[in-house]
Amino acid sequence: MTRPIQIAPSVLPADFARLGEEVAALEEAGVDLVQWDVMDGQFVPNLTFGPDVIAAARPHTSLPFEAHLMVHTPDAMAERYVEAGCQRLIVHVEACPHLHRTLEHVASLGATAAVALNPGTPASSIAHVLDLIDLVLVMTVNPGFGGQAYLASMEPKIAEVRAMLATTGRDAAVDVEVDGGIGPDTVAGAARAGANVLVAGSALYRDPEGLGHAVATLRRLATDAVT
Ligand code: DX5
Repeated sequence: MTRPIQIAPSVLPADFARLGEEVAALEEAGVDLVQWDVMDGQFVPNLTFGPDVIAAARPHTSLPFEAHLMVHTPDAMAERYVEAGCQRLIVHVEACPHLHRTLEHVASLGATAAVALNPGTPASSIAHVLDLIDLVLVMTVNPGFGGQAYLASMEPKIAEVRAMLATTGRDAAVDVEVDGGIGPDTVAGAARAGANVLVAGSALYRDPEGLGHAVATLRRLATDAVT
């Protein structure tokens, strides 16, 4: 079962003084959803968007929002990000000693739950929660900053996650997302490995032909790689 290719921008490179206009421009450019890289300065050495910032951008687009919670205490913060207008919350396995309970908590808030794996975290760590999630994020950089080099060494893990989903019958319901270093030179490898939701920040904003061209290029390259 091949899940549909989706392009999800990271807004890290966007102009933070104009986030409402920036998310409207992303919708115009043809993205499928918006990923907010939420960083608390504890789980990763960077600090980004609080829930009020996301809530301020919410009225400017009809796109789904997902919050990638690179935070030390996802349980304590989850409700605020759902209230801010995020339909999906992605929690890091590494920040959740009670992962099963955390994912149930996210679902109880009315959001869809997803898990993220840092490069050093094995796919096996999510084997017992596949029934609670609609997406697995395989990080292809170490989290904290945009503009890093893609870790092609994560491609076997992407394939392993896709295989786990297939053997447990969850393949048709769960997306596999990658985040970090995704661009025209790396997107095909990630898609061939099994990723269908492709998060990109730098590659979208550095395209001299603009966001629309960058989104269409990534979508075409990913689609061609799996057909
Ligand atoms: C890492 C960040 C980045 C960002 C995308 O914590 O989450 O991966 O979203 O960065 P680029 O696309 O610029 O590599």
